Amino acid sequence: MNKTLQNWVNEMAGLCRPDHVHWCDGSREEYDRLLAGMVDVGAATPLDPERRPGCYLFRTDPSDVARVEERTFIASRRKEDAGPTNNWIDPGELKRTMTGLYSGCMQGRTMYVIPFAMGPLGSPISKIGVELTDSPYVAVNMRIMTRMGQKVLDILGDDGDFVPCLHSVGAPLAPGEKDASWPCAPMERKYISHFPEERLIWSYGSGYGGNALLGKKCFALRIASVQARDEGWLAEHMLILGLTNPRGQKIYIAGAFPSACGKTNLAMLIPTIPDWKVETVGDDIAWMKFGPDGRLYAINPEAGFFGVAPGTSTASNPNAMKTMAADSIYTNVALTGDRDVWWEGIGYDPPGNLTDWKGRDWAPGSTRPAAHPNSRFTAPAARCPSISPEWENPRGVPISAFLFGGRRPNIVPLVHQSFDWAHGVFLGSIVGSEITAAAISTNIGRVRRDPFAMLPFCGYHMGDYFQHWLNIGQSADPAGLPKIFYVNWFRKSALGQWLWPGYGENCRVLKWIFEQVTGTGRAVETPIGLMPAPGAIDREGLDTGDAAMEELLTVDREGWLREVESIREYYAWFGDHLPRELVSQLAALEDRLRA
Ligand code: OXD
Ligand code: MN
Repeated sequence: MNKTLQNWVNEMAGLCRPDHVHWCDGSREEYDRLLAGMVDVGAATPLDPERRPGCYLFRTDPSDVARVEERTFIASRRKEDAGPTNNWIDPGELKRTMTGLYSGCMQGRTMYVIPFAMGPLGSPISKIGVELTDSPYVAVNMRIMTRMGQKVLDILGDDGDFVPCLHSVGAPLAPGEKDASWPCAPMERKYISHFPEERLIWSYGSGYGGNALLGKKCFALRIASVQARDEGWLAEHMLILGLTNPRGQKIYIAGAFPSACGKTNLAMLIPTIPDWKVETVGDDIAWMKFGPDGRLYAINPEAGFFGVAPGTSTASNPNAMKTMAADSIYTNVALTGDRDVWWEGIGYDPPGNLTDWKGRDWAPGSTRPAAHPNSRFTAPAARCPSISPEWENPRGVPISAFLFGGRRPNIVPLVHQSFDWAHGVFLGSIVGSEITAAAISTNIGRVRRDPFAMLPFCGYHMGDYFQHWLNIGQSADPAGLPKIFYVNWFRKSALGQWLWPGYGENCRVLKWIFEQVTGTGRAVETPIGLMPAPGAIDREGLDTGDAAMEELLTVDREGWLREVESIREYYAWFGDHLPRELVSQLAALEDRLRA
């Protein structure tokens, strides 16, 4: 038994004072038992065993439906180390506040001890965490999202290292008090806290998603990004996919896109070009280290998908639909009369009246959404029809290309490639997405910068993060480094219509990227980077016309000069932590545009 772990569990149990402590073994039997318990108390609804075998629906408290960025803290010792993109509180002060909240917070509840691995068991890239939680919902989700239980304790051994993750829903129960079906604390008492120097996570008050499943955003991105900086590797908000051409040649691609840009769909894409194949390694996070051959090898630290349900359909992502057809957990979607699930954008009309995500009766045609826009499925990656045979390879998969992208209705073309690594880091640093009507209205049409899609997930100063990316390039043999591309599926015409069909047709852009990586692509040099030569994007069988294609692949010099100004303003945010190299990259872009 690991003494450090035992002592920490004892100490935290002393603080939180649960009625029971349960060490999770990770077995199916334990999982079924926890779910049955939640069904018994009315917290979970089992779905129709014929249509959705092994599936359950949960409804959260209406106040606890998403990650709470404004209650997420990076408590580094120095404020400056958290940087301008993170909320900071002095770690001593934050610990005092949270120790007060944690005191007795698990009364009337069970504390689950969840040993989990991020990454395949036994991989040199994987790491171990232990989450203590008073939420059985978290325990069952962690069994899907990570490798968890006794097998992780076996690897941890007597003296293995782990990241301690303490979690409570923040709702102690007095003796005899009836529990809420979704216990949580009000917003001002929620804290999603990271102590990067100590590699420690403390989360309080929320039971939902990234706030509570601490392996995902808290560990695998915020804490791991700090570990990666210190140890010379990369922890990124990236999907990983394998792409095979008709001759059986295969490359791996990792891609960073802000939330709501179709990352899961891209990771599970079904190509429309005959005999090309996409295989899924991961849909959200990539950990990458250099192999002995000087190439970057990536693992998916997760074991499941925590995907957004609305908009997912047999048309947009058939592989996701099949993945979640069994042994999956649904949260905040709508329930049909025959105990199936339904959501907006599922691809067919609601089959009669529903129970909406708040548990109310819902009739077709209602103006309220039946499913919460951030409703989710938690599904085992192993069930995914497109899962790569390499997805659990402990060595990881060698990455040949990085993609960056966001939603940009104008200026940014369908695809361009960086001239070199440093220019690619520049492209990553300027990732942004147009703010749509769904977000705060005063900023519609403006770009929200989300560098490397890491804005909410970088555990240290974003300027230093850019420097880390530059250092990675400098320390490596350029021949082994991935090539870097910027894609934009969301370009619109002057009339506001999509110019590019997206979804499975995105494989046409992936094909050009494949050719660029393997040396057979045709490209032209432009002021913003390398772009497909005329005719180099395969359009066989596609009805996108010449005019649309030209618009998708033009360099809008005026637009880009405005972009340069907008980047200059945005770069000021990082103060003197902004690497000089990026200032030079911006100046060089401006010079090329004016030439
Ligand atoms: C996610 C996110 O849930 O990026 O993966 O918000
Ligand atoms: Mn994500």
